Amino acid sequence: MQGARIISVGSAVPDLCINNKDISKIVETSDEWIVTRTGIKERRVLTGSNKSVVDLAYCAGMKALNKIHMDPLEIDLIILATSSPNDLFGSASQVQAKIGAKKAVAFDLTAACSGFVLAIVTATQFIQNGSYKNILIIGADVLSKWIDWSDRKTCILFGDGAGAAIIQACSEEDNAILGFQLNTDGKQSDELSIIYKEDISPLNTFKLFQGQFQYISMNGKEVYKFAVSKVPASITKCLNSLHLSTRDINWLLLHQANKRILKAVADRLSIDTSKIISNLSKYGNTSAASIPLALDEALQNNKITKDDIIVISGFGAGLTWGTVVIKWKC
Ligand code: UT7
Repeated sequence: MQGARIISVGSAVPDLCINNKDISKIVETSDEWIVTRTGIKERRVLTGSNKSVVDLAYCAGMKALNKIHMDPLEIDLIILATSSPNDLFGSASQVQAKIGAKKAVAFDLTAACSGFVLAIVTATQFIQNGSYKNILIIGADVLSKWIDWSDRKTCILFGDGAGAAIIQACSEEDNAILGFQLNTDGKQSDELSIIYKEDISPLNTFKLFQGQFQYISMNGKEVYKFAVSKVPASITKCLNSLHLSTRDINWLLLHQANKRILKAVADRLSIDTSKIISNLSKYGNTSAASIPLALDEALQNNKITKDDIIVISGFGAGLTWGTVVIKWKC
């Protein structure tokens, strides 16, 4: 078996920053309510015509490549974790073209806020079985395009962004993607979705149903309860399988949905809150981008050092949740 390790990380956010006061001008809410209930103070939103998830994903991917001076032609595979593509057939191929990674195969991975965790695990399989050497994974979402901006229950939460990581093959002894634990409960898919609503056209002799995707709908309370119960269980299972305990963890990097969720998960696992990596006050919930965005920032701030154990968990629509445990080797 080959080893796999993350050798570079990059991220990108749009320029426009919308704070809670700005949002309180369009829906009945307040900075105090949003900060107390979520921890979010501001978020970034992608503006401008013809701007899409591809632009953010491209920027994040290029930053990761440039940091280690890697030629895009060395990339074998690009996995774009997104639930807000600008083409239903997928956006990864557009990112591949823009980056100039001509030799890479590229595909989208749709798993909402768990997308980046699933991308790490998927890429690791391709590397550990010897198929590929260098894989660029990108978590990117522009949920601002799918939000009902008159719905105060959701419009306060989300922001746009992208984060990327390059995973490279290494010797088995240097393997740094230590283990994972993944789950899905499709029976709860209605709790958080962007549903496709169909209509039958009166003109359609084939009785073909056609429709459109709607706005994000979320049962916040249920998703909250799901997160604080399932995520600690997933982390415990994953650590147990690796014969590690929560005492061995240096950093807890969760999907940045709500600061109360981050704290509740840490408390349930008796992990000191100083070990929580969080930047959601500045970016809100950026879906598949939230984990790599926070990872990149923590690295830039020199928080994470060599041989640190990082527990990464994603959770969200599906409902899907999971954990990956990594050792930082750079
Ligand atoms: O990324 C995928 C994962 N997503 C998540 O993990 C999200 C999980 N859920 C949450 O983070 C929280 O449930 C929310 C932040 C979405 C909501 O917080 P909450 O403490 O569960 O609030 P709530 O929905 O129970 O609403 C409490 C009250 C309600 O008023 P009443 O019925 O008590 O009079 C709401 O109408 O707050 C009201 N409310 C608001 N008030 C001001 C709901 N949204 C707002 C708002 N501003 N934006």
